[in-house]
Order: sequence, then C-alpha cells, then structure tokens
Amino acid sequence: MPAVAGPPPGTRKDRGAAVPFSKDEDIRVRVVRYAILAPSPSNTQPWRVAFRGNDRIVLSLDQSRALPARDPHGRWAFLSCGAFLENLEIAARQFGYRADIDLFPAGWPDPGKPLFDPVAHIDLEGDKNARPDPLFAAIPDRRTNRRLFSREEISLSVAGELAECADFELVPFGFSQDRDLVRAIRDLAAEAFLGELSDGDRFFEFLEYFRFTDDETKKARDGFGYAQSGHGMISRFFIGTFLRSRKSALRHPEKFVQKEVSCICARLDHCGGVGWLSTKGDYRIDQVRAGRVFERVHLKATSLSLALQPVTAPIADIPPVAGIRSQVCEFLGLPRTHTLQMLFRIGYAPGVPAPPRRDLASFFPAGEAHNTSHVPGQST
Ligand SMILES: Cc1cc2nc3c(=O)[nH]c(=O)nc-3n(C[C@H](O)[C@H](O)[C@H](O)COP(=O)(O)O)c2cc1C
Repeated sequence: MPAVAGPPPGTRKDRGAAVPFSKDEDIRVRVVRYAILAPSPSNTQPWRVAFRGNDRIVLSLDQSRALPARDPHGRWAFLSCGAFLENLEIAARQFGYRADIDLFPAGWPDPGKPLFDPVAHIDLEGDKNARPDPLFAAIPDRRTNRRLFSREEISLSVAGELAECADFELVPFGFSQDRDLVRAIRDLAAEAFLGELSDGDRFFEFLEYFRFTDDETKKARDGFGYAQSGHGMISRFFIGTFLRSRKSALRHPEKFVQKEVSCICARLDHCGGVGWLSTKGDYRIDQVRAGRVFERVHLKATSLSLALQPVTAPIADIPPVAGIRSQVCEFLGLPRTHTLQMLFRIGYAPGVPAPPRRDLASFFPAGEAHNTSHVPGQST
C-alpha cells in the first residue's frame, strides 16, 4: 500500500495551487487529500477509503460516524459522499486523470437502511485530454462560514455565475434575495432547530461534534466550534471555558439551545439571500448527485468571494420538522414532486478558519496506510 505522507492541501505553501508531491506518490493518495476537504454534517467526515489493485479507490460510509438521531435516514451522509466525489474528480482532472466513478457497485441500496457496501468504486485512468477545472483552486479555501454576513445584494451577474457552475438539469438550483422569504425561512429554521435539540438523543449527538475549546478541536480533529462563527482566539477561550462551556451546556441545556436558536435567527437576518437544491427522486443516487452539485456551488461561491452556510435544520428528516419541511418547500415554490436536498444562506463576510480534518490514515482500514502526515494543515 502506498505511503500517504507529504504536505497537505490548504497549507500556506500550496494554497489554491497544486499540492507539492513526491513523484513516487500514488495519485490516489493525492486526490483523496482533496476529497476529504469536502463538507460533511457537523464535520463528521463519515468516509472510509480503501485502495484495491493499482488504480481503484473504494469509498464507503463510516457507520461509526453516522448521526442516527439527527440524520436518521442518512441523507446528509450521502450528500457529503457526493461532495467528496466531486472534490476527488476535480483533483483527478487537475493531475491529468479521469475518475471513472461507479456508484453503488454492489447494487442499488435500500434507502431505508444503513449502507455497509461501497458507495462508489473510483478507477483513475491517465487521460491526456483531461481539462483542469477552475474550481480546483477553491477546494482548500472553501469554508462553512457561520459569521453574520452583510445584507448587501448579490448582483445579477454574480448570481448568474453561480447558476452556471454545474449541470442543474437533475438537481435544480434556486436562489432568492426576497427579504420576506428569508424572514419566513428564518422563523421556520428557529422552530425546527428548537424541535431538533429539544430531544435528548439529538442534543447529545449535536454536542458530540460541537467543539467548545481549541483543545477539544485539536484532540478530535473533527466537529466544529466557535472559531467557525468568527470568534478570535481570546474570545473563544472565554466563551468556551466560562460563558458557554460544555459543562454549562450539559447543566442548562435549555439555555444552550436558546442561544443556538437565536444565532440561527441572527444569521438568517444577516445574509444576502438563500439558495437551495432539489431533486425529482429521493433515492441515494439523487442524494449523492445533490451533494456533488452542492459542492460545486460552494466552490464557485468561494471563488466569487461569497460566504456560504448550509441551513439544514428546517429540512431535517426528523418528526418535529416534517410539517416545517413542507412549509419551506411551499415558500420556495418547489413542485410537490421534488425533494428539497439542501438549503443555504449566502452573502459577503470575512473568512473563518477551517475546521480540521483527521489524519489521512484514519480514513483507511488499519494497516493500509503508512507514514501518514497530518492532512489539512489548517488552523482552528
Ligand atoms: C449535508 C450537510 C448538512 C449541513 N448542515 C449544516 C447546518 O445545518 N448548519 C451549519 O452551520 N453547517 C452545516 N453543514 C456544514 C458542516 O457543518 C461543515 O461542512 C463541516 O463543519 C466542515 O466544515 P467546512 O465545510 O468548513 O469544511 C452541513 C454540511 C453538510 C454536508
């Protein structure tokens, strides 16, 4: 098995450019480094990777990183597999390869059950005609940004560029800057988030991946915390240690939840607009497809200096949100035959640090990857 050492994407040296690599490095290692920079719910990074033969990458879901309470049908996990595949394919093209992706090689999965079979086999073939994708440069810079955005309108030409970054035939893209619509979504998001976190299992699952301090972040190398809301080091030390610590969240969950709900409201009050993606079907393949398109939209937004944050609480697949989800679809004017896969706010804002990724070796079965170096090399 090839070594997975070397400098990671997103470090100062390689920012937005090709990652320096040794000539002997397996191309699969190089593209997987970019793939794991994809977004995932609460930064769970629910991917398992294995290499077979000389060319094949096998992508599976790491069921130990599933969110059975908050994402009981696994929709978010499959969306994040789509984002992983999109990054992987863009990186392969950049390095002169074609990624031949075979989804669900063991047969169509049951949408109601956890999937233990592979999500995809990806065969990399050298391709002299491979055309680099301009979105490649945005992969290390893409972030989920939880700051308050400016309310500045997004111009028609910028919105038009977003609307051209992917093939939206199977995953239609919607976008609106209508203030009344955004306010309506804000109220539904607040109600949904309150419903989501009022349940003990979902609350604990949320806290499992919420990083209150930089120390927690450094140890876990997954999840997200106050840094991604724009708090500086000193501010997040005081918030995470004294004002809104893990201990206080466990002692007074209702206070923690109230604060999170008010943050959601403030964030939707401060944005340029909202965007969404839907699909006609709602099979696993539709969810993976939507994840791929979402990643392209997010990468394109990054390259246009736009900040983006998914707002999935009001479309979660949990009982208290069922009615809210239908109301959101109605407000967005979605045909009844369509499933809303992703909802996000978008606007202009200063950047945030990237939440970390785990060491590359931890995505591989034990013993399959050696000499692993740290992956994203981004600060918390
Ligand atoms: C399916 C899916 C749902 C998500 N839902 C939310 C959400 O509701 N709120 C939020 O702030 N971030 C959401 N995220 C963003 C993740 O939390 C984020 O991708 C993760 O923390 C890693 O950070 P990064 O995107 O900056 O790499 C979602 C991401 C995915 C893929």
